[in-house]
Amino acid sequence: MKRHLISAADLTRDDAVLILDTAEEMARVADRPIKKLPTLRGRTVVNLFFEDSTRTRISFEAAAKRLSADVINFSAKGSSVSKGESLKDTALTLEAMGADAVVIRHHDSGAPHRLATSGWIGGSVVNAGDGTHEHPTQALLDAFTMRRRLGEGVGSDLSGRRITVVGDILHSRVARSNVHLLTTLGAEVTLVAPPTLVPIGVQQWPCEVSYDLDAVLAKSDAVMMLRVQRERMNAAFFPTEREYARRYGLDGERMARMPEHAIVMHPGPMNRGMEITAEVADSPRCTAVEQVTNGVSIRMAVLYLLLGGNEPALTAGTGTSTRTEESK
Ligand code: NCD
Repeated sequence: MKRHLISAADLTRDDAVLILDTAEEMARVADRPIKKLPTLRGRTVVNLFFEDSTRTRISFEAAAKRLSADVINFSAKGSSVSKGESLKDTALTLEAMGADAVVIRHHDSGAPHRLATSGWIGGSVVNAGDGTHEHPTQALLDAFTMRRRLGEGVGSDLSGRRITVVGDILHSRVARSNVHLLTTLGAEVTLVAPPTLVPIGVQQWPCEVSYDLDAVLAKSDAVMMLRVQRERMNAAFFPTEREYARRYGLDGERMARMPEHAIVMHPGPMNRGMEITAEVADSPRCTAVEQVTNGVSIRMAVLYLLLGGNEPALTAGTGTSTRTEESK
């Protein structure tokens, strides 16, 4: 693995499977009464969030704490960023505090890459979502959820699985990271959206594109619904919300046309009534809440592999490690 995690495209199949397998070990820790490992004791993880977040920020915080790292949460609102401080000066401040890893979410595509390549900081950089570009840990937790729910075991990838990603592809870093990672893992990806919400250049992406949701549902192993990202829209991309929901929303009737084993996914936050009805969101086939749980295991695995390195996370075999801090 590289020192940073900026793009899902940087991961080889073996890197990705290693992260998924390590996350399985981490998930075992979450099932214990004391959910803590000493692995990153004495290390400092900074969560640098320039954009709103619920799930991703608390997930990285929980992950770092479960590995016993010290965690500093930095949100741009209420910091010197609102006084005009640059990314560079913010980064130099974090470096001066001795950050071993910086988890960054930023409204500008490319900000994590800048941080990783600038030389301003010495630690690892993890992209927690940059503009409309990428969100690699989301794609990893999605793949982890698919592998578990579709019955693929540890060590395996998603070969031959058919995954459909539906909605606001144009503004979605989740879609872009998923296309990279899922194809690396051997899955076949189909994007479904109104033509106005399909990015220019999508022909170069390793996936199919369809404008007809009903045509692809019956051959999908997982259907991932995306939020319509109004905060990134500066124009009208579809006539009305009602029309969008009718053509591209997932309701109970459409869900019934999916194969019996197929799952519905959503990264959150959901717009209930828009891309997904409450009936679907609350059905046992929808993995949205499970995805959040799995996100902690994935982020533990990523932080562990980037920072901790080469010793096993848990002692092999027993599942109860001597290195586990049962008393903490
Ligand atoms: C996504 C994001 O922020 O890119 N959410 C998340 O991280 N769970 C998707 C979204 O905002 O719609």
